[in-house]
This record gives sequence, C-alpha cells and structure tokens, in this order.
Amino acid sequence: MVKLQNIGKTYNNKNVIISNLNLEIEEGQFVVFVGPSGCGKTTTLKMINRLIEPTSGSIFIQGKDITKVNPVFLRRNIGYVIQQIGLFPNMTIGQNVEVVPKLLGWSAEKRLQRTKDLLEMVDMDPSEYINRYPSELSGGQQQRVGVLRALAAEPPLILMDEPFGALDPITRETLQDEIKKLQQKLNKTVIFVTHDMDEALKLADLIVIMKDGEIVQAAHPEKILSEPADDFVSEFIGKHRLNFSFDIETVADVMRPHPVTVTKDKGIAQSLALMKSKGVNNLIVVDREGILEGIVRIEEIKKCGHNGNIINDLLCRDVPTVKTTSNAKETFDLLINNKLDSIVAVDDHNKVCGLVTKTSIVKALAEVVWKGDSDE
Ligand SMILES: Nc1ncnc2c1ncn2[C@@H]1O[C@H](COP(=O)(O)OP(=O)(O)O)[C@@H](O)[C@H]1O
Ligand SMILES: [Mg+2]
Repeated sequence: MVKLQNIGKTYNNKNVIISNLNLEIEEGQFVVFVGPSGCGKTTTLKMINRLIEPTSGSIFIQGKDITKVNPVFLRRNIGYVIQQIGLFPNMTIGQNVEVVPKLLGWSAEKRLQRTKDLLEMVDMDPSEYINRYPSELSGGQQQRVGVLRALAAEPPLILMDEPFGALDPITRETLQDEIKKLQQKLNKTVIFVTHDMDEALKLADLIVIMKDGEIVQAAHPEKILSEPADDFVSEFIGKHRLNFSFDIETVADVMRPHPVTVTKDKGIAQSLALMKSKGVNNLIVVDREGILEGIVRIEEIKKCGHNGNIINDLLCRDVPTVKTTSNAKETFDLLINNKLDSIVAVDDHNKVCGLVTKTSIVKALAEVVWKGDSDE
C-alpha cells in the first residue's frame, strides 16, 4: 500500500533529519510511528502526502511513485488529521465534513448522505449537529469531526499526526476506540503518529519506533514488547516491559476462587435466576459438604424446560476436574487441547475450590506480567 524506499531528508545540506528510511505498509494496517519529540515523525508523515519533499529516496502509494502525482490530487485521496483540528470556523459541521467530497464533485445528495452516515457512526445525531458551527462543539467533538472530515471522501489512506494529543484522557480514550473501530469497519490503512507508547500499543498492528530520524524497530506490538530491539526500545516501552519472573505454578494460582455452586435439590427456575444474576452459563453442583457432584449447563436447562424439576435431573456428572496442586501449564494445555470452557479445581477430597477458565488464566498472567504497574 505504502512503500518508503531509502528516504532521506536534509535541511540546508547539513541538518540530517531523516536518514535512509525503509518501510512497507500493507493495506488495511494500522501503523503507528512512535518516538520522542523531534525524532522525525511529522516530517516522515508529511512526506507521504507531499507537504514535505524528501531529499532522497522514493515513496510509492499503491505502487505509484508519488512524485509523479499532482500533490493537490494526491492529498484529496489521503485523509489527514492533525492535533490543531483545523476545522473551518465559518463553516457548519456538515460543510466541514463535505469539503473534499465537494472538491471531488460528489452530488449534494450523496454528500449529505455520507455526512449523516459518518456522524451517526460516532454517535453524533446529524439532526442536532450538522448545522452547528465548530465553536459550538466541545474539543472532543471537534476532533471527532476532524476525523470524519478526513474519512469523508473514502480515501484508502489516512494520516494522523498526534490527533488526540490536546484532548483530556477520557475523551482521548473514547476517540482512540472510535478510530480503531472505524478503521476496522471501513478497512482503511492508517498511519498514525504519537509520542505516547500507550496509544501506540492500543491502536497499532505495526509499531514503528523512531529515534533520531531512523527506524529502530518496526514490528507487531507483541513482538516489540517481548523482543525489544535494543535498550532504547526497552526504555521507551517502560512500564509495559514484560516481567518474566512468574510465580504461577499451580492451578491454585490461575483458578477463579469461589465459583458459583448450588446443591442438587435446587429448583431449575431458581438455578436459572442464579445463573442470570451471576452472569454464568453453568453451575457447579455440590453436596452439603461442598463435594463435587457434577455440573449443570444452561443449554440443558433450555432444552428440557424447567417445569418444576430440580437440577438433579439435568446433572452432568462427567465433569473435567484438576487438583488445585496440579501444574498450571498442563491444565492450560488440557483446557485448550480439549476445547473445554472450564475445568473445576478440587482438593484431595473432591471438594470444589475454584474454576479454571481461559479468562481466569489470562487474569492471573496479567497480574504477574503487569504487577507494580499501578498506572503511574
Ligand atoms: N523546516 C525545517 N528546517 C529545519 N529543521 C526542521 C524543519 N522542520 C523540522 N525540523 C527539525 O526536524 C526534526 C524532526 O522534526 P519533526 O518531524 O517535527 O519531529 P517529531 O514530529 O518527531 O516531533 C526536528 O529536530 C526539527 O527541529
Ligand atoms: Mg510531530
């Protein structure tokens, strides 16, 4: 989709801002350039829509050398969102969103429909907002409109330069969620610049870490976290650094304690109500001493109805179990290899102690991996 080939940018024949940048971006990827201030992110982005011309190298978009494309036409086909919003203050929201479609000669009807669709996509009621002026909107709403304007003409590529940098943290989170959803829904290629690693990790399929005009590492977020290319990257990842000193060994470390249990004399309607209130799909059935009897699943209940029966009638006694002292990794394999929803964890007397699910394991791992990360 976008190919940067040996790109260099030098000012006044001496200030090397970008040196020999190479990168290939695939269609539909969400690529985030991240790096400290002054490392050349904005410069790189602006070379892609020819607001800045490289000193050396070539840029191809959809296989075409962009120096062969009229920059004005080029920019009409590339969405661009910057931090300083840049809505036209004397135009309504509708007119702002329609700027590029209008330049492209879309009919008034088609433009209006598109604007309405876009506003609805971000939960801004068109009838309420379309005729308002930017000054009548909050900062977050204005930036949302800035994003919609960039999307309006359905460009295959969108460039975003710290678009949410000036917003408060909550609005920023919301807009991050929205842009990610829009990008996936519309299958756009996005190149996004930020100096915020949190933002990069949240949004990117491909993170490009830059330093002093060079790419230090370009990889999937997972890879960046698990195999940072050098000390600079490790440092930059900071609090997200993986901590491999696990103290997860046994089932007790990964199970959810206190699972929802019932005794087998419970009525079915009552059990169903319990499932609903606890948000679970099955109940572990135990005797008075808490010893495992079996499990009852919501599908069984649905199949058989619940006319005055007790759950004993629907009890499934063939329940996968493990001991709380069993090996956590082996239990995980058991869960995955047998495609089980859950495994009941019991003690030596078959007393129910917990429930192992994929979620309970992920939670336990997350706590270990990110321990000490108290959101500083
Ligand atoms: N027109 C210019 N002339 C000379 N140097 C510039 C010019 N524009 C940007 N720079 C320098 O290029 C470097 C990279 O800038 P920029 O791409 O804006 O960084 P970033 O977006 O990563 O913060 C900075 O050191 C900046 O001072
Ligand atoms: Mg910048």
